[in-house]
Amino acid sequence: MAAPVHLRRLAEADRPAIERHLLTLGAAGRRARFHQAYKDAAIAAYVRRLDFGRMILFGAVARDGGAIVGMAEAHLDDPRAPGAAELAVSILRGWRNRGLARRLVDRAAAQAFTRGAQRAVLNFQPDNPGMAGLVASLATALGPRLRRAFGQATVLPAGEPQPVG
Ligand SMILES: CC(C)(COP(=O)(O)OP(=O)(O)OC[C@H]1O[C@@H](n2cnc3c(N)ncnc32)[C@H](O)[C@@H]1OP(=O)(O)O)[C@@H](O)C(=O)NCCC(=O)NCCS
Repeated sequence: MAAPVHLRRLAEADRPAIERHLLTLGAAGRRARFHQAYKDAAIAAYVRRLDFGRMILFGAVARDGGAIVGMAEAHLDDPRAPGAAELAVSILRGWRNRGLARRLVDRAAAQAFTRGAQRAVLNFQPDNPGMAGLVASLATALGPRLRRAFGQATVLPAGEPQPVG
């Protein structure tokens, strides 16, 4: 049987589905994702501002109905953070704990590195158990290529030579 979702790059045409995804996150999910309580209008404005030329988005898209059930974003070219891609990830509640965040973050980070990013940074609230689990899981796979600090993790490109603590 085919997997219930497929992973693919998201593009301009996906803007309405991206907005529906973020609106469906619920209050706690919105706070965790945006680090503040985003109202519907703030999400709509955020989605309008998405610049597909300067970011990489991967979605987990339901085969049945086409809803975006999970999404990872890599924001590139921020002059405040040269060389960094800032990653964000959100998975709808009923779709968590299936490895989707892990796979989407892997893909978004890999694409960001091919676009010239030297590191990918994940910012999260320190009391977010899902992100703590995700970062621990990435650390198992990446070992010294993942740096972790309280509320932040940095994913380094494959082949990064130096071991870091
Ligand atoms: C955090 C979040 C993205 C995790 O998504 P997910 O798809 O459930 O994560 P995965 O299934 O890929 O899990 C990755 C690892 O984290 C672990 N994990 C996931 N949720 C966990 C939880 N609540 N507590 C402990 N560990 C957890 C999994 O067991 C897995 O570990 P493993 O690879 O060793 O088995 C999801 O809970 C979410 O969207 N939260 C709201 C938005 C948010 O917090 N975004 C982050 C800020 S940008």
